[in-house]
Amino acid sequence: MGLLQKILVLFVGLILAFCFYSGNEDFKPEMLKGKRVIVTGASTGIGEQMAYHLARMGSHILITARTEAKLQKVVAQCLELGAASASYISGSMEDMAFAQSVVRKAEELWGSLDMLILNHVSPSNFSYFNGDIAHMQKVLNINFLSYVTMTVAALPMLKDSGGSIIVVSSFAGKVAFPLTAYYSATKFALDGFFSSLRQEFVMQNSNVSITLCVLGLIDTETAMKAVSGVVQSSAAPKEECALEIIKGGALRQREIYYEYLSTKIPLLIRDWAPNLLDYIIQMHYNVEKLKD
Ligand SMILES: NC(=O)c1ccc[n+]([C@@H]2O[C@H](COP(=O)([O-])OP(=O)(O)OC[C@H]3O[C@@H](n4cnc5c(N)ncnc54)[C@H](OP(=O)(O)O)[C@@H]3O)[C@@H](O)[C@H]2O)c1
Ligand SMILES: *[C@@H]1O[C@H](CO)[C@@H](O)[C@H](O)[C@H]1NC(C)=O
Ligand SMILES: *[C@@H]1O[C@H](CO)[C@@H](O)[C@H](O)[C@H]1NC(C)=O
Repeated sequence: MGLLQKILVLFVGLILAFCFYSGNEDFKPEMLKGKRVIVTGASTGIGEQMAYHLARMGSHILITARTEAKLQKVVAQCLELGAASASYISGSMEDMAFAQSVVRKAEELWGSLDMLILNHVSPSNFSYFNGDIAHMQKVLNINFLSYVTMTVAALPMLKDSGGSIIVVSSFAGKVAFPLTAYYSATKFALDGFFSSLRQEFVMQNSNVSITLCVLGLIDTETAMKAVSGVVQSSAAPKEECALEIIKGGALRQREIYYEYLSTKIPLLIRDWAPNLLDYIIQMHYNVEKLKD
């Protein structure tokens, strides 16, 4: 059998396996009814859309981000859409005391928690790594350490409820891209930490699921502004992306890939022909358009 056929057989096998696994249990919106859910980074983008989906499904929602005015609007919209309840708490995830206080607020509101959706991210742009260690530290705090801090604070409640942690990562947390060194580092860190924790939960019979979300380019305002001109790639809709994340979390899946083929196929190349993948990635960059 030639190499090409082998790859083809492997590929078809993977698709069949995917269809089989994903067909095992069906998602039903009722799964989220009355569930108590924290969504971070929910003032805009994918987080905002997740809040709206959860509201339609009848969840209790606590959202957070820095911008209070935006959070107020999202809460009002959630109540209109049918949320069982909706509240917000504003502050920066650069501060670990704030990260803990978000979980404390959920405890005050509900005395319990079913789902922790970690989604916020420090704003970033495409630029060459400029050796700014203070910035690296800051981005690590916001994109990584606050995720760990909230997980630690929420674990007692999640263990009691048999709850779920949903970690929103990126394709850039599985495959390194140029011009995103700060961001990529934090997303790889999430994979390392939460994939380790997932195994420990199994070994310790702790009934808390962890879903890592590997997202390709999504059409949020921030992302569209950041890539404009620099990366040639089509973006997937944030509304559908938000729903896929919630589905994966509710079904307690290990990982979700969105969009599936455009994130999953390159991963096959990653481990077998990394130089080829680097080359393909660099072809999609238009560095002349870099803002400085
Ligand atoms: N869009 C994409 O193409 C894409 C691709 C792959 C992965 N993802 C991942 O998907 C998630 C959501 O992305 P998105 O595009 O929806 O982002 P976004 O629209 O920029 O939203 C980011 C959210 O995080 C909040 N935030 C920013 N800095 C914060 C801070 N210091 N403390 C607390 N909250 C802060 C923002 O609100 P405030 O500014 O009000 O604080 C906002 O609500 C991220 O984890 C991102 O890495 C996105
Ligand atoms: C992009 O991010 C880098 C690293 O933080 C920063 O030094 C630079 O000023 C930013 N550039 C733009 C155009 O925002
Ligand atoms: C774990 O939690 C889920 C969701 O709360 C529940 O459906 C399942 O029965 C629990 N499993 C065990 C072994 O307790």
